[in-house]
Amino acid sequence: MSDESRDKIRIFATGSCEGLGEVLSALEQHEDIELVGAREDVAEAAAALTGGHLDAVLHATRGTFPADDVANIREHTRAPLIMLCAGDASGLLEEALEAGVADVLPLPQLTENIVFSIRKTCAAGRRAQGGDGRRGQVITVFSPKGGIGKTSVSVNLSATLAKYFGRRALLLDLDLQFGDAAIMLGVEPEKTIYDLVVAPGELDAEKLAGYTSSHPCGLDVLPAPLRPEDAELVTEGKLSRLLEVARGSYESIVVDTSPFFHGPMLATLDRTDELLLLCNMDVPTIKNVRLALQTLELLSFPPERVRVVLNRANSNVGIKHSEVERVLEAKIRYDLPSDRAVPLNVNRGKPVVLADPNAEFSKGIKQLAGDLVKQEQEKKERRGLFGLRLKAATA
Ligand SMILES: Nc1ncnc2c1ncn2[C@@H]1O[C@H](COP(=O)(O)OP(=O)(O)OP(=O)(O)O)[C@@H](O)[C@H]1O
Ligand SMILES: [Mg+2]
Repeated sequence: MSDESRDKIRIFATGSCEGLGEVLSALEQHEDIELVGAREDVAEAAAALTGGHLDAVLHATRGTFPADDVANIREHTRAPLIMLCAGDASGLLEEALEAGVADVLPLPQLTENIVFSIRKTCAAGRRAQGGDGRRGQVITVFSPKGGIGKTSVSVNLSATLAKYFGRRALLLDLDLQFGDAAIMLGVEPEKTIYDLVVAPGELDAEKLAGYTSSHPCGLDVLPAPLRPEDAELVTEGKLSRLLEVARGSYESIVVDTSPFFHGPMLATLDRTDELLLLCNMDVPTIKNVRLALQTLELLSFPPERVRVVLNRANSNVGIKHSEVERVLEAKIRYDLPSDRAVPLNVNRGKPVVLADPNAEFSKGIKQLAGDLVKQEQEKKERRGLFGLRLKAATA
């Protein structure tokens, strides 16, 4: 996917009103907008709203304030909501603004006015989240099968970002039932994500800092609950808030996961900038990774944020690299070699990138980390340019 499409504002439209069809066709043609989809019925839009990474939702209505629709949309996404209304909008303006709707636009309306409102809303949303300069990159490491190397990659990637790239980095263990990231790091967890979410009071940066453990390489880690049954209390709402706060405190947040698309994973996907999808040379795994790619598509997860990583890529098991790509219908972006140094250092409780920086696996992880940092910097620069363009437009 081109860099250009990364810059577009991703919107989804729900509801209906006179003139909406024209608005949507015009937005579809607009160079700054990516219309991800449109559904009259909000209930039908649930999946797309949830995993969609939307920058804004447009909801069209015929006159009265659609409180139920707004509540339903909010349940699935925190993206700002702009309301379109055929004819006189004054009857619902106050109620809409009170309900946190970002803007109300009566139709008909010039397309440029609608795009301007969308831009303004998105920029305000970003500022409210802590501004452009303080929005860490969320890197989620996922695979639909167990034992593929998620934790090995998460631990080594986060340690690399902290130690070799000087990033303020957090490793978040969302393998909530059986997480072992802290053990792989050799960190004795004092407190876990469970203690954080059950502690009284609002979750903010200061509170988060009180619950993370530090590794000498500069990495902070928030371990998984110690008891599997405590996982349930880490709800989607708590997790969403935690990720928002972490984005304000850290430059890189690496999330280790379990092999399921359950609630916490969906909440994480919603805030994921880069998804590393791990595969290996094993046929059942390849089949499941393909299914995972299809699920991500159904969830409208932006394909340009997915990087397929082939772990143990040099395993000689009778399958070719190109065959894996053909079955996946996706490019493999990174190969990580099978390397004895990985299990050797797991058992010593030391990330291999620190214990043996010249091991082949360590080199592969460093290359991946370097690319992710570069990607983030380019994105920031583009966001800066976008901000300048907006300022010029509003001046
Ligand atoms: N590239 C590699 N070379 C050699 N061994 C590896 C490699 N990647 C992972 N392993 C080994 O495979 C085992 C499983 O790895 P890991 O725990 O990282 O997988 P996981 O996907 O997190 O598993 P789970 O689903 O159980 O959480 C570990 O013992 C690890 O040392
Ligand atoms: Mg694991």
